Amino acid sequence: MTKRKIIIDTDPGQDDAVAILLALASPEIDLLGLTCVAGNVPLDLTAKNARIICELARRPETRVFAGCDRPLRRKLVTAENVHGKTGLDGITLPDPTMPLQDQHAVDFLIETLRTEPPGTVTLCPIAPLTNIATAMERAPDIIPHIREIVLMGGAYFEVGNITPTAEFNIYVDPEAAKIVFGAGVPLTVMPLDVTHKALTTRTRVEAFRKAGRVGPAVASWTDFFERFDKEKYGSEGAPLHDPCTVAYLLRPELFSGREINVEIETGSDLTLGMTVADWWRVTKRAPNATFIGDVDADGYFALLVERLAQL
Ligand code: BDR
Ligand code: CA
Repeated sequence: MTKRKIIIDTDPGQDDAVAILLALASPEIDLLGLTCVAGNVPLDLTAKNARIICELARRPETRVFAGCDRPLRRKLVTAENVHGKTGLDGITLPDPTMPLQDQHAVDFLIETLRTEPPGTVTLCPIAPLTNIATAMERAPDIIPHIREIVLMGGAYFEVGNITPTAEFNIYVDPEAAKIVFGAGVPLTVMPLDVTHKALTTRTRVEAFRKAGRVGPAVASWTDFFERFDKEKYGSEGAPLHDPCTVAYLLRPELFSGREINVEIETGSDLTLGMTVADWWRVTKRAPNATFIGDVDADGYFALLVERLAQL
């Protein structure tokens, strides 16, 4: 089996943690590294949390890099209200002993993409797009080396979770998102429209709890962060956003969407970070993304439980 080479760009985050565990549990995936960015919590915590997650999976050889500590042009906005003070509240795990790599995440992205043959490395950004955009700006020659970008971010019908019109990852660094959406790379987007169909119901959380060695930690994380969304949306559980990206690489048939044009709002205070998705194709703007709208949620959670149980 030829493994798919991927880099996950992340700001853990409980849902980031599940995405990382899914990748580590999947033999089809060759995880070249985790590049951390400031987002849900500041950079020192996301870089620490990424290593806690690797150690939970007993994969301390995974390379973890710290990247940009703030958005390209704006002040950092964080989400401790959702993810807790540490970013990974819900269960206390040991501080990591595995090293953080010395290289800056952006340098790692550039070096790796330059080294790998064109069209071979998949990027999975599940955080603000600062690291990816910085790498693209600094070294545009890396762009043809990217096979595909599958990211979590944006919203259309569901609209915003951080403002009425914007989703967190895009809102935090809209200028970076504009660069990535305009790069001409095959792009698949997991917006809130799809993640809000993938809710952590009681039955699903209990299935996590029984999923092998890491299952209880995963259940504690989802228990923790769903309290915020349940209260806010009055829903049965919380959307499990970020693992949709890795699940899509493993089982694309679980998802469906449309190839459309998506532009990022960077000029308006009112709708900053909005993903203006031409779902009904009312403009002549060329499609630049596959915007996912639906998921087989039972299939998605079954895949997660099956894989997490392997760790
Ligand atoms: C996204 O924002 C973060 O809080 C989550 O980890 C996810 O990447 C959802 O809007
Ligand atoms: Ca995230």
